Amino acid sequence: MRILFVCLGNICRSPSAEAVMRHRVEASGLAGEIEVDSAGTAGWHTGKAADARAIAAAAARGVDVTSIARQVRPEDFAEFDLVVAMDAANHADLEGLPGADPARLRMMREFAGEAGLDVPDPYYGGDEGFDEVLDILERSCDGLIAEIRSGTIKATAG
Ligand code: 4NP
Repeated sequence: MRILFVCLGNICRSPSAEAVMRHRVEASGLAGEIEVDSAGTAGWHTGKAADARAIAAAAARGVDVTSIARQVRPEDFAEFDLVVAMDAANHADLEGLPGADPARLRMMREFAGEAGLDVPDPYYGGDEGFDEVLDILERSCDGLIAEIRSGTIKATAG
């Protein structure tokens, strides 16, 4: 099972989602079964480490944010079983990508039972926004792992 988390810049929300998910996957003994990655719909920050505020907020919870930013690619929909958008704008942008597969596209907060809500963009706000994002990502990742365990999400990528 391969999961790609997607936000706008790939320096705040989706690298944090990738890191929180990897941490929880490892704690759940699923490390051999679930691979995670992240990307941005925009390419502005390609090649850069995550925002220092995102790295610090996650580190305070024992989570390492290590990803290097990249932009989404049309082939991501073939290579990942699940493409998880952080907000409605990311979802719309992903739907418009050549090769988009609506069956593999979801919104992050659906997994927390919070369908219709965005993971708010913390980039232009204060440090507390990064903690709020982590709270949302933690409960979303727990829901996502529960869905994978229960078999409602299945690996279909080649
Ligand atoms: P992210 O946050 O989508 O969570 O990585 C942002 C990062 C950078 C910008 C916007 C949002 N930006 O405008 O550069």
